Amino acid sequence: MKRLVAATVAAMLLISLVGCSNEANDEVVSGDITTEAIVAEEPVSSEEEVTTAPEETEIAEDTGSVENSVGDTEETSDEETTSDAMGVELTEVELTMYATDPLNVREGPDAEYEALGQLMVGDAVTVTGELSNGWYRIDYNGTVAYVYGEYLREEEVITEDEYTDVESDDEYYFQTEEDYLILVNKTHLLPDDYKIETDYVQGSYEMEKTAAYYCKLMIEAAAADGINLKVLSAYRTVAYQQKLFDRNVQSRMDDDGMTYEEAYADTAINIAPPGGSEHNAGLAVDIITENDWDTYTGFEDTEEFAWLQEHAAEYGFIMRYASDKVDITGFIYEPWHYRFVGVKYAADIQASGLCLEEYLGVTE
Ligand code: DAL
Ligand code: ZN
Repeated sequence: MKRLVAATVAAMLLISLVGCSNEANDEVVSGDITTEAIVAEEPVSSEEEVTTAPEETEIAEDTGSVENSVGDTEETSDEETTSDAMGVELTEVELTMYATDPLNVREGPDAEYEALGQLMVGDAVTVTGELSNGWYRIDYNGTVAYVYGEYLREEEVITEDEYTDVESDDEYYFQTEEDYLILVNKTHLLPDDYKIETDYVQGSYEMEKTAAYYCKLMIEAAAADGINLKVLSAYRTVAYQQKLFDRNVQSRMDDDGMTYEEAYADTAINIAPPGGSEHNAGLAVDIITENDWDTYTGFEDTEEFAWLQEHAAEYGFIMRYASDKVDITGFIYEPWHYRFVGVKYAADIQASGLCLEEYLGVTE
């Protein structure tokens, strides 16, 4: 994620915002979306449970104080904030993000603030700030507004409708367990006629149908162990891969002053070429921790990573880009990137200590 300027803003940010309403507008969205669709709910800063049904929605009505980031305490009224709001840090960013769920847009960074409108799945939004309480500041038709960050992501959201043109099972690439061992890398691009059936994994993230099934099982099993696996990226179209690649090249030149050749080389060890990404195959998922919005090598120090090391293979996944295989895979160490190879082979591949290229004997 491109962070331009990091700035700390005291909790004054919260209390200087226009007054909020306790009549939270958490209504069901109608129109394009089915009337059962619920606007993605943001957490309130109270411990009270909030249900999504409009008539049952209750917002905490605490009065109290807000502590700013230097420890001063500001007396506030219950119209302004909830009592347990703490200092909030704002990081200035400049990003286009996409809504993964129907989502309320609010006057302030909390579910208590009045809703100005909604974003629909796939809507693009200009994000201008990232707050430490999980909310994002956005430009909403020229107005400063806020949405809860969990339901925004940097990748374009592909809506379900875009998959309805796939007709018969026979057309799909994956028919046997061995098919899931497909090697996809810089030199083994997906065929042009490659077709997969996809299914949802988490939010609007999708994977190839069988991979999605096992990924969901894995996420549920982790949750049962108290481990919250958060999907950051899953299936990507080839066109989107191209966009990611090009954007990274451009930002290396613009932000880091690299030449085109340097920027290209730097990008090529981080992002696969279009058609050469396991994400394009629907077989890869990037997993991070709940509170991190970017991939990072520090993931290996988290309990989520430890859980995946122990259990991912049970669900057919392997960590694909190990630190000691960079010369073979051509990609940096990515402790967050998991590849579905199928439950028949995953444990064996992991136990072998080989990367997929070596395991398949295709290292050229
Ligand atoms: N970051 C991995 C290599 C990909 O783009 O598929
Ligand atoms: Zn990945």
